[in-house]
Amino acid sequence: MKRRVAILISGRGSNMAALIAAARAQDFPAEIVVVISNKADAGGLAKASADGIPAVTIESAPFGKDRAGFETTLQAVLDENRIDLICLGGFMRLFTADFVQRWHGRMLNIHPSLLPSFPGLDPHGRALRAGVKISGATVHFVTPETDAGPIVMQGAVPVHDADTPETLAARVLEIEHRIYPEALRLVAAGAAVIDGGVCRIAAQIARDGRLISPAPT
Ligand code: GAR
Repeated sequence: MKRRVAILISGRGSNMAALIAAARAQDFPAEIVVVISNKADAGGLAKASADGIPAVTIESAPFGKDRAGFETTLQAVLDENRIDLICLGGFMRLFTADFVQRWHGRMLNIHPSLLPSFPGLDPHGRALRAGVKISGATVHFVTPETDAGPIVMQGAVPVHDADTPETLAARVLEIEHRIYPEALRLVAAGAAVIDGGVCRIAAQIARDGRLISPAPT
């Protein structure tokens, strides 16, 4: 049985598109059932519809600081669609601890840095100012702390002296599109298990020496 996945977005949805493309493979252990945006003008909504995936908007702005109210509406859509797993793809709204707890071990996020370095806003600018020579992206289970939680997969890229936040973001985004589908594959297959606050991979993984760990299959 394929795991039923909802992707939550707020913007252009390029990670969403990578997940949708990967899930088309017959042997992929998850199917993308619905895309949900908290913004009506998210570019990803049209992309999802063009790919034949139902796209739903739940505007979060009218809820203001009422996070729980927004989440009640969101949970209803997740229930209607019998969702097993949530993937956040540039979803720029914080959840209550209650919602995170309800989805513990079943909600993934991608962040464009090698966590725990540079969580939160402007990760690329901060990476450049810190002078790091390698940056990358992290797929992790969501915990109440922003951009934290057990790490499922990371991918690394070099940082060049001439980089701007934009050029680094573009290089990191390519690696995001590679690792997010692979991380979802592991989680949906039950091969990524949270153990004492860290994620262990219970699968035979080919290790090819590239700076993607664990390596994509
Ligand atoms: C991605 O770079 C993702 O890693 C980042 O937002 C972008 C969304 O792009 N997420 C975060 O910064 C989460 N803290 P996309 O809409 O094209 O997938």
